Formats: sequence, C-alpha cells, structure tokens
Amino acid sequence: MSEPLLQVIQVKKSFSGTEVLKGLDLDVEAGEVHVLLGENGAGKSTLIKMLTGAYSMDEGEMYWQGEKVTFETPSDSMNVGIATIYQELNMIPELKVYENIFLGNERHRFSMLNRKHMKRKARELLIRLGQNPDLIEKRTGSLGIGLQQIIEIAKALTTDAKLLIMDEPTSSLSGTEVEQLFASVKELRKEGLAIIFISHRLEEIKELGDRVTILRDGLKVETLPVKETISDKMVELMVGRTLNEKFPKIESERGKEGLRVDGLQIAMYPEPLSFSAYQGEILGLAGLVGAGRTELARAIFGADPKTQGSISIFGQEMTINSPKDAIQAGLAFITEDRKGEGLVLGQTLRFNINLGSLFKYKQAGVLKKRALYKNGEHYVQELNIQPAKAGMKARFLSGGNQQKVVIAKWLSTDAEVFIFDEPTRGIDVGAKVEVYRLMNELIEKGKIVVVISSELPELLGMCDRILVMHEGTLTGDFDRETASQERIMRAATGGK
Ligand SMILES: Nc1ncnc2c1ncn2[C@@H]1O[C@H](COP(=O)(O)OP(=O)(O)OP(=O)(O)O)[C@@H](O)[C@H]1O
Ligand SMILES: [Mg+2]
Repeated sequence: MSEPLLQVIQVKKSFSGTEVLKGLDLDVEAGEVHVLLGENGAGKSTLIKMLTGAYSMDEGEMYWQGEKVTFETPSDSMNVGIATIYQELNMIPELKVYENIFLGNERHRFSMLNRKHMKRKARELLIRLGQNPDLIEKRTGSLGIGLQQIIEIAKALTTDAKLLIMDEPTSSLSGTEVEQLFASVKELRKEGLAIIFISHRLEEIKELGDRVTILRDGLKVETLPVKETISDKMVELMVGRTLNEKFPKIESERGKEGLRVDGLQIAMYPEPLSFSAYQGEILGLAGLVGAGRTELARAIFGADPKTQGSISIFGQEMTINSPKDAIQAGLAFITEDRKGEGLVLGQTLRFNINLGSLFKYKQAGVLKKRALYKNGEHYVQELNIQPAKAGMKARFLSGGNQQKVVIAKWLSTDAEVFIFDEPTRGIDVGAKVEVYRLMNELIEKGKIVVVISSELPELLGMCDRILVMHEGTLTGDFDRETASQERIMRAATGGK
C-alpha cells in the first residue's frame, strides 16, 4: 500500500476537562472517499476541526504525505492542500457564481481584479466538477442549494486542494441534488483527490464511500472497506450493540380529528389546501425539497401569512396570526433549522428544554425550580443527549445533540398538535429510534403528530398515512397498505 496522504496518530482533545478525542487514529489515501461514521457526539466534527486548523490538538501527531505537520491556523491547513466545505453556505446570493468562487481569494491572487482570468478559471472548475460551465454568469442566489453546494466545492478547489472535507453536506439536499453533488465528488476522486465525507445516511455511505472509519466515543473502532461491509455491521460497530428495530411502529386505532386545515391559501401556492390529521396516527408529509411543506407548516403555525382558510383543533376553529397564537392554540412546531429558530446557543440545555413551558412551572409568580430541573434531566435522559449535563451550554453540543434539545423543548409543552419538520436530520441511526419512540408516546397520549420528512424509508417505516406535496399542491394521500416508494415519488414529481 502506498503512503497515506494524511495520517493522524493518537490525537487527543479535551474541552474544559472532558476528553472528547481519546487517542484517535485515521489514515486517508489519495483517490478515496473516506467516510467518518459515528453517533452524535462521537467526535467527527472535532476531528475535522483539527484537520482544518480550527482547533489545535492536545496530544498526537499528524503526517501529510509522510511529513510531520502541525496546523496552528486554518491557513496552515489550506496551504498544504486541505479544503473544507461546511453545511452552511457561505456565499453572497446577489453575486454571480464566478464572483463567489473567487470571493475572498481575489485580492491575494491578482493585483488587479482580473475578471477574464477569474471567469476562465471558474469555467474550468465547473467542468472539472461535471457541471455546465455557463453557470458562472448566473446569480448565485438563483441556483438551488444543491448547485450552490457544488459552487462551494469549486470555491474550495481554487486553492489546489488534495483533500476535500465535507461534514454532513447532504443533510439539506433533495435526492436529485444529492446525486448532482455525488457526481461532482466522483469526478474529483477520479482525479486522485481524497475526500473525507461525513453523513448519517447509510445509503449515501454505501453509494459514495470507499473506506469507512467508525468512531465511538472519541476512539476509532475500525476502518473497513465499504463495499465488503454490510450496513448493519457498520451500525453495530458504531453503537456497540445490535440495533434490531429501526422503525418501532406501534398499532393504534384512528381516533378523533385533531387538526383540520381547511382551504388554506398561501401566497405562493397555486390553490388552497385542505387536510386533516387524526388521533392515533402519525401523518407523514412527503415531497421533494422545495415542494412547499415547510411553508405549509409555517403558515399553520402563524409564522408566515396566509390569505384565507381556517385551522381547527379538535373541532374548534382557532385564530392563528402569529406563532404565539399557535402555541396558545395548542400547536408545537419542531423546526428543521435548529440554530435559527430552535435554540438559544448561549443558554444551558435545561433553559432551552424548559423555554416553551415555563408557565407550567410558575405558581403565584414563583418559579418551581426543582420541577424545572427535573424536567431538564428527564429529557436529557430520555433522548440520551450527550454529554448528559443539563447545565451545559447548548453551543457546545454536537449538531445532532442540539437537534435533540429542540425536540425536547417542544415535548415539554402541553401542545395537542405536534408538527415535526425533518426531525431526524443530522441524528444518528440509534438516536433516530429514540425520536420515533417519543412520537409513539405522543400518539398514545392522544396527541396529533404530523411529520415532514425527506427520508422516505422513515415515512414508510413510521407513518400510518402519508400525504404528498408537489409545487404547493397535495398530489397524494396513501395509507400503510397503498404507500410505496414508487407511488410517493410519482406523486412528489407531479405524477410524471
Ligand atoms: N467547543 C466545545 N466545548 C465543549 N465541548 C465541545 C466543544 N466542541 C465539541 N464538544 C463536545 O465534543 C463532543 C464531540 O462533538 P462533535 O461535534 O465532534 O461530535 P460529532 O461526532 O460531530 O456529532 P454529530 O453527529 O452530532 O455532528 C461532544 O460531546 C461535544 O459536546
Ligand atoms: Mg458533527
């Protein structure tokens, strides 16, 4: 075997006395897609931050093409040829694609802003990524997020990268966008670039990965060839036990109509929308990214204006003009955007968990602190939030654990209707099961549960009924017997 491009030996890292990486090893070769797989909080993103020079290692060594290196700053890492793209897009939507590709880079590279040169280079980069070079003249904001993600890669490649790092790049992409991204990544692999790829989606790992390094609790468990390893084996190594039930679906009887949406008209929709959700069922909402599902949820929740239509909860029509009205009416909306709408990062987990239900703990104007504490601890246990410290600031949690806190916040309220938007995005396969169990508990308590998800296996596995949206209209309504991947996809693409 040739010398690895990158070798990490026995790296350790602690945060305020807690050891997060405990002597981790990794080696990455040129021309491979190397997957990092591990539970939420296992240390994947922390490892990446050492490789990009964002954090320094406490102990351990790093070799680049056989030579020992230390990265004090992000530019040290960039200079050897490591490029990173992050989940959040860092581009200015108003600028043209080629301008964004060279944004921040134009000054060091050219004494004068040389547009002709920039355009030529940008075209070359897009061709390398298997994309249409004419895109360079488009306004960046007019492209879908999938393409914008690819533009991010092009941007990363302006620095002659040999290793491209992607930490959960696909979590907000639709199926076709993921395919587009993968096509670009495969082109780069052919050229001999190494790629480190993090995802919680096993199908993606299977499709794209060459080798997988499985992390558990800050240590490497094993590095395995992806093709020869079945997914169940990977999961087993990752969680340290067999996971026999991926979708813990329970049997339940349909009860009363709990949520009724009648003739709801949202400005951008072609026609008004109506549907109902019942007790005893988990109602799924399927569709491609951009089909208008989040907009629908936001309109129901009073976060976006609606022009006409009514919303009833257990037979009673509610006036909902703001999220505050919605919460008072008994609605809970667990958003997909945990950082933007879900969490107060500078506050503790306990604070965040209790944020929506403080009124429950007030008696004669006095906060019942003990009860608040208990509730915080309860959900930290229940959702297996790691580290299990309710007094820790939300900022310091891993991405998936932050998502669990958002879920816990809403479960703490006395809502009647729970709308989940991509609840398991960024959550590891083991923890997903915990989230599904909590949904089961909700329906057992007679609550109404609506789940928006882009992961069809999840909807098929957990829902009693699935509605499908396409460009702002409802194009399908399936029960467990009639629902199938093909039928839903057909409805989601408008019947084509
Ligand atoms: N700046 C920090 N201060 C304190 N603790 C931190 C900090 N950054 C990370 N941690 C902790 O390090 C551990 C590993 O986090 P990391 O973000 O690397 O996990 P991850 O494997 O990327 O998880 P996920 O799949 O949820 O993204 C977590 O327990 C996290 O709380
Ligand atoms: Mg992470």
